Amino acid sequence: MLPIYDQKSRIKLVIVVLALVIGAVTVIYTNLLVRRLSEREQQQINLYARTLRFLISTEVEDANMAFLNTEIIEANTTIPVILTDGEENIIQYKNLTVPEALSEAQKDALLRREIAEMKELHPPVVVNLGMGLRNYIYYKDSQILTQLKTYPLVQLGVIASLGVIAYMVFSTSRRAEQNRVWVGLAKETAHQLGTPLSSLMAWQNYMQESERFQGEPVVEELAKDVKRLQIITERFSNIGSVPVLKDENIRDVAERAIDYLKVRVSRKVVFKVESLLDPATTASVNVPLLEWVIENICKNAVDAMEGRGSITLILRHGGRNNKQIALDITDTGKGIPKSKFDTVFQPGYTTKKRGWGLGLALAKRIIENYHKGRLYVRWSEVGKGTTFRILLNG
Ligand SMILES: Nc1ncnc2c1ncn2[C@@H]1O[C@H](COP(=O)(O)OP(=O)(O)O)[C@@H](O)[C@H]1O
Ligand SMILES: [Mg+2]
Repeated sequence: MLPIYDQKSRIKLVIVVLALVIGAVTVIYTNLLVRRLSEREQQQINLYARTLRFLISTEVEDANMAFLNTEIIEANTTIPVILTDGEENIIQYKNLTVPEALSEAQKDALLRREIAEMKELHPPVVVNLGMGLRNYIYYKDSQILTQLKTYPLVQLGVIASLGVIAYMVFSTSRRAEQNRVWVGLAKETAHQLGTPLSSLMAWQNYMQESERFQGEPVVEELAKDVKRLQIITERFSNIGSVPVLKDENIRDVAERAIDYLKVRVSRKVVFKVESLLDPATTASVNVPLLEWVIENICKNAVDAMEGRGSITLILRHGGRNNKQIALDITDTGKGIPKSKFDTVFQPGYTTKKRGWGLGLALAKRIIENYHKGRLYVRWSEVGKGTTFRILLNG
């Protein structure tokens, strides 16, 4: 049974690694594009600078030439640029949104802010006009380039949220399916046990009344087994439907469960039930199901001890605001490593040759789904022992 868990975690690892690789490739590839585009924009600005110098410093007589140069300037429809003279007076700007409604002073202030921002990004391109005259071209990345820079982040965000959503959808649908299996199997079992059980009860009645069997110990033994079968059927039918919870004295329930177990395991296992609660304290429980849980946990405890040791049940207040009722079941067995504190509750997890790994999974369902309580490993040390805690609502 163990390999399923190893396999599962390996698949998870592969998926995570794959996602990381895809993420890394995207980032690297986009970075490459960003660098290329950035280089091209730089070239375009340089071309713009050269054109400008040419236009200003040449006596342009050739109308065609002037047209060509204007064309180059106009060709830049993406990179925001501001042209200033040597004293930072704004001569011209392009590809910047400056609302027409603004006053000249406001426009100027807005463009100055742009210049400050542009200075941070790139040093301005200096256009030498000769005779000590200079113009400056300030520019920043085009919107496309800026978007491309943030694109991998957006993409990774989308991939991550898709992953989370997919995980949530799959795990809820898997849980719903597991629920149907548990409930269906329990109902079917209760149903199948029902018929032979009623016939057994009829036989038992017949024997009790018949002269032939008077005084025979078999009658009493049969009665005990029938009673036990009835309890088992009740458990399955309870887990297959919405169980009724009633206020019950927990100490009594615990003691009854222990009394049943005590006589069925080695004498060298010592059972103790202690209560730090007011003797009248009750909790809202379904008795057949809670007994099943206690039995399962105690049977595991016995298995963990190889026939010798002690099992102590202590009742106290605990949980949320100390308002819940805690039943701690402590054994002196082989213990559970910390890494397995959660795993032991997964259906199918067992370390036993003849184990099904369903006991604790069932117990957890009974406590958490049917009683809205909690069941967890409260303490354990390998070689020393284990404490399971059941939290119930008062
Ligand atoms: N008290 C305990 N001490 C040590 N190990 C435990 C204890 N209770 C449970 N385990 C571990 O949890 C596993 C799962 O328990 P369970 O779900 O009852 O299935 P099973 O008893 O069939 O193995 C056990 O195989 C064992 O390894
Ligand atoms: Mg078990």
